[in-house]
Parts: sequence; C-alpha cells; structure tokens
Amino acid sequence: MPSLTVALTGAAGYIASHVAVALFERGHSVVGFDNFSNSSPKSLERVAQIADTHMPFEQLDLADTDGIEAFLRAHQVDAVIHFAGLKAVGESTEQPLRYHENNVGGSLSLLRAMENAGVRHLVFSSSATVYHPDEASPLREDASLGPINPYGATKLMVEQIIGDVATYSDLRAINLRYFNPVGAHPSGLIGEDPVGTPNNLMPFIMQVAVGRREQLNIFGDDYDTPDGTPIRDYIHVMDLAEGHVAAVEALHPTTGPGVDNVEAINLGTGVGSSVKEVLAAAEQAVDHPIPHQVVERRAGDGTVSYADPGRAEALLGWRATRTMADACVDHWRWQERNPHGFAPDPATDE
Ligand code: WQD
Repeated sequence: MPSLTVALTGAAGYIASHVAVALFERGHSVVGFDNFSNSSPKSLERVAQIADTHMPFEQLDLADTDGIEAFLRAHQVDAVIHFAGLKAVGESTEQPLRYHENNVGGSLSLLRAMENAGVRHLVFSSSATVYHPDEASPLREDASLGPINPYGATKLMVEQIIGDVATYSDLRAINLRYFNPVGAHPSGLIGEDPVGTPNNLMPFIMQVAVGRREQLNIFGDDYDTPDGTPIRDYIHVMDLAEGHVAAVEALHPTTGPGVDNVEAINLGTGVGSSVKEVLAAAEQAVDHPIPHQVVERRAGDGTVSYADPGRAEALLGWRATRTMADACVDHWRWQERNPHGFAPDPATDE
C-alpha cells in the first residue's frame, strides 16, 4: 500500500487524534494544524506516545488562508481531512453567526488554500444531523435533508459548497456523516475532553461515574420506543477513525478506486441503542451503579436515528466492528485514568 501524506484540520480534537493514530497504523504520514480553541496540545503528545512518531504540527487558524496554503505546500499534502469546527448544537442557536463564520467561513478558506496549493482530495466531517428529522431510520444517504439547528445547517452548507467545487473543478471529496461517536483509544491515553458541562450522553455518564457530576439527567422516558428513551447509533471512535482511513484511501488512485466528484457516506453501526441501554452498558463497564433521574424532554431531540451503513461497506469496504460494551470499557479507561481530561489538575477544570 503506497503511503499518503494526510493533513488534519482540528488535529488536536477528539476525532482527529484517533484518526491520526489509525493513519499512522496504516503507514501513512500525518501532518496537522489546530488553533486550540477547543482542544489541548497535550492530545498531540499522547498521539505521539501511542504511534511512537511525531506529527508535524502548526498552530494555525482556518481563517489564515495563506498560512494554510504554505503549510499544505511545505508538506506536499495528498489529502486533507477537515475536522475543525464548532459542534455544540445548543450554542449554535445562541450564536448562529459565529457558527456560520467559523464552520462555513473556515471551510471556504480551507478550500481556497487547497485549490491554490493544488491539493485535490478532501474528506469532510459532516453529521447525521443533516437529515430531516421526520426521515425514518435506518437512514440512507439519499434520505431528505433538513437540519433543524444552525450547527446542522453549517454542516449541510459546507457539503453543498464542497459539492459545487468538486462538480466544477478537479476536487474529489467524501462527506462523512457521523452518527454518535463514543469511546476512546484502548490505551486510555486519548479520548473526548469536553469543555464545561458535556452536551452528549456518553461523556456525561462517564463524568458521573468518575464522580465529577452528581447524576445523569435522562431527557424524557415517554418516547415511542420499547423503554421510552430515544434511540441513537453510537459508533466507537476507533471504528469511526478507520472509516476515515478507508475514505482517504478510496479517494486516491494509488490506494483506492477513486471517486466521481463527491460522495456522502454514513459512518454508523446500523444498530440503535436507547439511553437506558447505554446507561446499563456503562454501569457494566464501570462496575457500579450510576446515579440518574428522569427529567423533561430536551428540545429538538428526535425519537429514533440510526444509520444504514450499506454505502460505506459498498464504497469503502468499511464497517464498524466494535460493540457498545467495547466503547464503554474504552471510554471508562480514558475517563478513569484522566478524570479531568487533558487538564493537569482540578483547579483548572471549568
Ligand atoms: C443522545 C441521547 C438525549 C445527554 C448530538 C448532535 C449531533 C452530534 C452528536 C456532533 C438523546 C439523551 C443526552 C444527557 C440524555 N454532534 N441525553 N441526557 O442529540 O443524538 O446528537 O450529538 O457534533 O449532531 O445533535 O446526541 O449525546 O446529545 O444525545 O438523556 O445528559 O441521549 O436526549 O436521546 P444527539 P446526545
């Protein structure tokens, strides 16, 4: 397998750090940049520790088109994986302009830098939130689109911009629509380190388990599901990471079949789990009960969302192999060994 040089935007973040490890494992070269607005340089040290190799890195902002162009040229980059972006749904409804500036504006800057530097392959971190909430699961990529918050809108807009550029230039791109990433690298050295109160279920559960928070609030148990709690498609971050490696390899003619212009591909397991099922799996992994209470529904939550992962298998030869139990065990190892994430001591926490 020929080796590619892959540049990661948002390189120190949760998903990117796991993708870096997966790329190194496959023998590729990895370079990256990040502005550390929502990540820690510590994550890069840990990736180096796991992979036993150092990722050439620069602190760069996506808005710095010239800086990114110079970076891509200097490292003779074959493909970019674009992770950098703001990702809190609730915050996006409070600061819609900031979300569009960062996520859409930043992506435009990156595409300009890539075109100037002659980099023709792009994998974009999109999201299952681009699907219309009324669409039934399993969700196929041709389901109706229609995000219901500014965060999801920015993901869809960037997909559309990439689509236009790929259709009318030599850019080739894959938009990866993530379902719900969970878990951590089995070393326990890297993992999700949310700033402030976690919005997402798994990090919240694990912070309760480690004693950082008192109890989990289950947002409603009166949904039309077997146990009354909503169903989602939780995918182990290492499965997700391997999906990115498969996408980058698929784009490049020396390592894969190539892609016509642009493809949208779900990264999910195809299996749905309820909130109560996730909680039960987490209690197994941590080996003690996790305090919880049922509260009101959270605005904007749908009842059921899980992927049809068939297209990923057909186009990338990739499918998720890890279980919810694996994800909980790995997430707990990370959380237990790093109770305050990458922060050195509790005083700096929140
Ligand atoms: C999962 C389930 C909650 C927290 C969001 C974004 C999506 C993607 C992933 C990307 C729901 C319930 C949660 C809690 C709870 N983001 N829950 N108590 O809403 O499926 O997707 O995150 O960057 O774009 O929309 O994920 O983890 O927030 O919630 O009961 O404290 O857990 O109601 O049913 P969601 P989630």
